[in-house]
Amino acid sequence: MIFDTHAHYDSEQFDGDREAVLAALKEGGVGRVANIAADIPSVETTFALARTYDQVYGVLGIHPDGVPDMGEGTVERIRALVREDGGRKIVAVGEIGLDYYHRDHIPRELQKKWFVRQLELSEELGLPVVIHSREAAQDTYEILKACRTGDGCGIMHCYSYSREMAARFLDLGYYIALGGVVTFKNARAAKEVAAYVPEDRLLLETDCPYMAPVPYRGTRNDSRLLREVVKAVAALRGVSEAEAEEMTWRNANRLYRIPD
Ligand code: NI
Repeated sequence: MIFDTHAHYDSEQFDGDREAVLAALKEGGVGRVANIAADIPSVETTFALARTYDQVYGVLGIHPDGVPDMGEGTVERIRALVREDGGRKIVAVGEIGLDYYHRDHIPRELQKKWFVRQLELSEELGLPVVIHSREAAQDTYEILKACRTGDGCGIMHCYSYSREMAARFLDLGYYIALGGVVTFKNARAAKEVAAYVPEDRLLLETDCPYMAPVPYRGTRNDSRLLREVVKAVAALRGVSEAEAEEMTWRNANRLYRIPD
């Protein structure tokens, strides 16, 4: 079975057929999905999705995009939802981090402040973190090193840095998640990372509705298209598709602490 460790099924792009897509996942070989919040409304919609669908788990937090709108009340709300859930379906804090590429108009100090605050929250709640980091490798690394380290403490989502940088995040205890990008022809770094990450630290993710793999690039992504990513990762690592699937399934359940 495939575990999609990063999806956004509460996106309006699924408003027309969300229920049908989620119902079809199992038949498409996808056993579990983590839906990831990004802004304040999606903290609520992610919570609702996780509580409604057996195969959907939830990750609650505010993406660097959303930090200008957040406050201490947002932190309290996330804490309250995690307590209400009582360890059943909410499995991490995220996606949180730094984005100096798309979001350079959001002051870096503000991004850092809420990144650190949400890392503290994850520690308090005893949950791992899902990290979004774009063009901010060094600052992300330094903040994580200071605030949140340890085996299985989090996921580097949509990993887009070098193999050398991957080694440093792995040393802090992080897992590395890869998606559609590994199927892109020119994605040299991502392919190198896919071959390099130790077998107990690699995860699969869609980031759907975004980032559809080849040959579906440019269309709406969903977890079933991870089949193409499994093929690419298996080829890059020189293992069978079944092995690639099995190893990433085990890793995802271990990281999110979901009984198999
Ligand atoms: Ni995402």
